[in-house]
Amino acid sequence: MATRLASPRADPRIARSRLDMVTRAEAVDKRAEPPGPLRRSALFLRGALANPREVASVFPSSRSLARRIAAQVDPNSEGVVLELGPGTGAVTAALIERGVAGQRLVLIEREIQFVALLRERFPNANVVLGSAFEADAVVEKLDRPLAAVVSGLPLLNFDPSTRNGLIAQSLSWLIPGAPFVQVSFGWKPPAEKQHGWVTRRAGISWGNMPPATVWVYSASPKRDE
Ligand SMILES: C[S@@+](CC[C@H](N)C(=O)[O-])C[C@H]1O[C@@H](n2cnc3c(N)ncnc32)[C@H](O)[C@@H]1O
Repeated sequence: MATRLASPRADPRIARSRLDMVTRAEAVDKRAEPPGPLRRSALFLRGALANPREVASVFPSSRSLARRIAAQVDPNSEGVVLELGPGTGAVTAALIERGVAGQRLVLIEREIQFVALLRERFPNANVVLGSAFEADAVVEKLDRPLAAVVSGLPLLNFDPSTRNGLIAQSLSWLIPGAPFVQVSFGWKPPAEKQHGWVTRRAGISWGNMPPATVWVYSASPKRDE
């Protein structure tokens, strides 16, 4: 069974179990229409100003970056696609556009306003308010294996052992060979090469603000002894 990662920082906004599902009555501001791009951008900016270290960007991922990230996920694979730090759903929308059914998506986000928006925007997805560093509590309850983990977390804001721990744990949950996809604003891979991993750069989106690189980590194929 996977071991629980140490949470880098306790968050008082995340109640009791810290991976509490927020009830719709608490979280969803009921509107007839899902939020449009302007409202999403405004909400994202507000989140970034309130919480610069965790949101780590003033703009959501551009469409081309989101598509580049989603392209790393095989829509025909079986199982759950886990998204960590979905924000206002730029990458989630690209995953759905690529053909990943909403029912296959589990999103873990710690900003409550983003969670409310995600639930409005993607009613078929399972949106969890909580920390990605406590995702084991969510993964343990899944009845299907993980086909991909897609992370928009600002990994460079965490220390190297936390970054490596998150990737190692995610790879232990994934179907062998399935991808852990990470977007990063740095030039180097956000986690050092480890024995048992393969790291691949899946391209740079220069048009994103700021330019971003997509990295893919996967477990090395096992050799016969
Ligand atoms: C750079 S934004 C990326 C948002 C989105 N994926 C996109 O591409 O537009 C980082 C996101 O990670 C979320 N986040 C940061 N730390 C988190 C954590 N420990 N658990 C879950 N989400 C977290 C932030 O709230 C924010 O939504």
